[in-house]
Amino acid sequence: MFLVVTILSVMLWTQCFNAIVRPQKDFDLQRFSGPWYRVGLAYDSPEFVPLKKYLQVSKGNITSDTDGNANLTVRGTGKKGCMCGVYHYKKTDLPGQFTYFSDRHQIWKDVTVVESNYTEYSLVVKYKEIMKNFSQVSLYGRFPTLREEILERFRNYSLLLGFSAESILIPSSIDPCSD
Ligand SMILES: *[C@@H]1O[C@H](CO)[C@@H](O)[C@H](O)[C@H]1NC(C)=O
Ligand SMILES: *[C@@H]1O[C@H](CO)[C@@H](O)[C@H](O)[C@H]1NC(C)=O
Ligand SMILES: *[C@@H]1O[C@H](CO)[C@@H](O)[C@H](O)[C@H]1NC(C)=O
Ligand SMILES: *[C@@H]1O[C@H](CO)[C@@H](O)[C@H](O)[C@H]1NC(C)=O
Ligand SMILES: *[C@@H]1O[C@H](CO)[C@@H](O)[C@H](O)[C@H]1NC(C)=O
Repeated sequence: MFLVVTILSVMLWTQCFNAIVRPQKDFDLQRFSGPWYRVGLAYDSPEFVPLKKYLQVSKGNITSDTDGNANLTVRGTGKKGCMCGVYHYKKTDLPGQFTYFSDRHQIWKDVTVVESNYTEYSLVVKYKEIMKNFSQVSLYGRFPTLREEILERFRNYSLLLGFSAESILIPSSIDPCSD
């Protein structure tokens, strides 16, 4: 009996997460392309704790091809001054969900655009098998600052996925390398 209940609750738990990390309905990559600021970040990794205070709003640009793949180019401050990084997002069978190889963690991760209204904000989840070290929620904005209601949506959603309140950051300064 106990086993059955346990299995059942694990199943429900899994289904619950699958239900929450689901791409934006009728995702439109074309409209998602172009410049985005990363206005907020939820990241619970122990490695990130000492770096939290340095987090700034950075800017990225999404380009896409006709096959449905995308590149994200990010500019920001690195160890040796201004740096530029490119992420190659490969499409999956689910529109709005991509995969890419994380050089840092040496694993394939999925990237899901959970919600986007294209002209103002997007919620993006990295690695939907929510794991402390590997998973992130990002709030993208077409502007470096967003309305309080959108910030609250981002906070609520991150908490719902199990991120701690301390891990949800909305930096107030913009990375000078971004503009
Ligand atoms: C940003 O992306 C848009 C749309 O994909 C593209 O037209 C533009 O050239 C890119 N800008 C830069 C600076 O790469
Ligand atoms: C992404 O970048 C690679 C090379 O860095 C390029 O070959 C490819 O066409 C780009 N794809 C998109 C969707 O911009
Ligand atoms: C997205 O948000 C902007 C700003 O509030 C709003 O003007 C626009 O109508 C929204 N778009 C959609 C598709 O909801
Ligand atoms: C997560 O990071 C902590 C601290 O760096 C480490 O002890 C732990 O093994 C890591 N877990 C995984 C799954 O990599
Ligand atoms: C966030 O969650 C709180 C508490 O559940 C709720 O009252 C509020 O309406 C939510 N805000 C948004 C923007 O979803």
